[in-house]
Parts: sequence; C-alpha cells; structure tokens
Amino acid sequence: MNPTKYTLAFDVYGTLIDTTNIFYSLEKLMGHKAAVFNESWRNKQLEYSFRRSAMQKYVPFSTVTQQALDFCCQKHKVELTDSQKVDLMNEYKVLPLFPECLDAINQLKTEGHRLFAFSNGSNNALFHLLSNAKILNLFEGFVSLEDIETFKPNPHGYAYFNHKTNSQKENTWMISGNSFDIIGAANYGMKTIWVHRSKENIFDAWEFEASMVVNDLKEISF
Ligand code: 2OP
Repeated sequence: MNPTKYTLAFDVYGTLIDTTNIFYSLEKLMGHKAAVFNESWRNKQLEYSFRRSAMQKYVPFSTVTQQALDFCCQKHKVELTDSQKVDLMNEYKVLPLFPECLDAINQLKTEGHRLFAFSNGSNNALFHLLSNAKILNLFEGFVSLEDIETFKPNPHGYAYFNHKTNSQKENTWMISGNSFDIIGAANYGMKTIWVHRSKENIFDAWEFEASMVVNDLKEISF
C-alpha cells in the first residue's frame, strides 16, 4: 500500500449522499412524471449554480434548489402546494448515505489520510446532513463554498478548499460522482477520483480525464 497520506475532498450531493431518494416522494406527488422531474430538478439546480457563479450573483445553494424546483413545476406542469414544496426541501436536508460510505470512509481514515466533505451546500445544511447521516465525526471537517459565495467548478472554490484545510493541491484528491466537479478539480490541479456508480452517468468528452475511476467508494485504493 502506498504510504503517502493524502487530503481527500469528498463531494456531498451525489457522492456521499444519495439524492435519488427524493424520487419516491416525487412519485407519491406526481406519479409517472417523477423520474423525469427528478432528473430535471437536479440538472436545473446545477445549471443555476453555474450561472450564478458566472454572474457572480450568489445565493445559498438551498435557494438555488428551491428556484429550480419552482422552474420544474412550471416546465413539467406539476402543481405543488407551498407545503408540499417545503416538505421536499426539508427532505433534501436529511437525505441518506450511499450504502458503502461508512465502511469506505472508515477504511480511508484507518489508512491515515485527512478526510473532508467539500460542497456547494451551506455550512448549516452540511452540518445537519452529515450529522443526520451519522458521519460528521468521521471527517476532520467540512468545507462549504458558502464561505466565499461561489459554486463549483469555480477554480477559486478548489483553491479555497486547500486554503481552509491547509493542504496542497498536488496532494489532494477530489472524490466526486459529478463529472463537472471532477473536471473542475482537474482544471485547478487536484488529483481526481470519479465515482461512476450508474452506467447512465457519462463523463464529458473534454480535454480532462479523472486520475482514477471507481464504481463506488470502497474501490478507492492508492
Ligand atoms: C456538491 O455537493 C453539488 O454535488 C455538489 O457541491
């Protein structure tokens, strides 16, 4: 085993935390439209984060998520009451871990690496999400881009992670299920691990490649 001790930056939504669970609540609310609505909501949430970053017009990630939900209700002609929307947004605060996370994180911690969660989510959202998932204390800490009012894949975001964790990009691995996040981290100069859980997820055919590709977090090995 490689004796080097690395700094590991774990993306949260879609990497540690399974956002697909919202599908079941959407299915109860809108039946057969749930699958396309769920994908559309995630894509619009990310699109809004990219646009706000480019415009330098920050709002909290929860606001981005709420505004994306409102857009998708119009786009998919789904009528939700304010209380149904509040319930969906509250569910986002307590989403479950992917099943292999706990064992994988414990193993990487045992190997002596520094572990951090790193996300667009606000400090408050990350604290509650990771506490609810009972993994907060497994990380040395978490880094929220709320601190510098931007979103991934802004290179300043990855630089802020290294600043906040007193680490070097050359010794840092960005671990994410989101290809935009992997490409953003690689563009900045971190090493990268793409967590390719679903074969439906396609890596963008850009000039960047992941340093490592795994099917789930337990396959991570240095
Ligand atoms: C994050 O957690 C949105 O997955 C992205 O920052």
